Amino acid sequence: MRASDLPIGIFDSGIGGLTVVRQIRRALPHEDLVYLGDTARVPYGTKSPGTVVRFACEDTQFLLDQKVKAVVVACNTASAWALPTLDRRFEAVPIFGVIAPGARAALARTRNRRIGVIATLATVRSQAYAKALLARDDCIDLVMRDCPLLVPLVEEGWTSGPITESVLRQYLAPLLAHGIDTLVLGCTHYPLLREAIATVAGAGVALVDSAESCAEYVAEGLRQMGLLTVDRKRAGRIQPFVTDDPRWFDELAGVFLGEPADPSSQATLPIIELK
Ligand code: DGL
Repeated sequence: MRASDLPIGIFDSGIGGLTVVRQIRRALPHEDLVYLGDTARVPYGTKSPGTVVRFACEDTQFLLDQKVKAVVVACNTASAWALPTLDRRFEAVPIFGVIAPGARAALARTRNRRIGVIATLATVRSQAYAKALLARDDCIDLVMRDCPLLVPLVEEGWTSGPITESVLRQYLAPLLAHGIDTLVLGCTHYPLLREAIATVAGAGVALVDSAESCAEYVAEGLRQMGLLTVDRKRAGRIQPFVTDDPRWFDELAGVFLGEPADPSSQATLPIIELK
């Protein structure tokens, strides 16, 4: 089989990365995808950097064992901490993260150069968005905020309504007071809150969906590398794997994916010791 006909591998700490899969399917409808959700060890957003890097290496190795042509780190937290290690360790395939494309999209949208980022605690602590933004424009005025209640709200299906809006108002107040005109949704789950966030943030704030910008970045990167499948007529297939019992994932997957999902299989990850 030609390398360009192999599937693209995508991993996340759990189910949230399906928002990235959804956008990749939009951008590249004929590509086959292998998805790994590390549901047994979610969340990554509260874990220490060393743990996140080790988990990300194991997730990547699992995908490489499935013979993928590229790896997409859908998880913002894993992208924030693990990308340099993954690039060093796994040179055989290109590895794409979500932070650089999200930062690039935010810079294209902002007019007043005041940018907000909401994400998990680990992503905020990593300063990865700050580094990516400031590397391209050192006049950016950045406000970041971790929003730990948002992931559980989304997983409960509470993506709208007064409680969710009230939580969002609390989290976004300092960013809005700072006069941001652009807000990066720096976590896999936040695209599902897009409408509620838009209501609270108001029409003057442009929302940057890191899943959407990542999909464009992956499409562009694979095209440049000659790694897109060319004459496949059928729709691409998604093969989902999870590390915990598949039932919970299978019940919710369609909500994140925006289309019915095939049942997932249970994955056993390789153990990697980081020196
Ligand atoms: N996938 C994570 C992220 O995008 C959110 C959930 C978690 O904390 O693992 O940062």
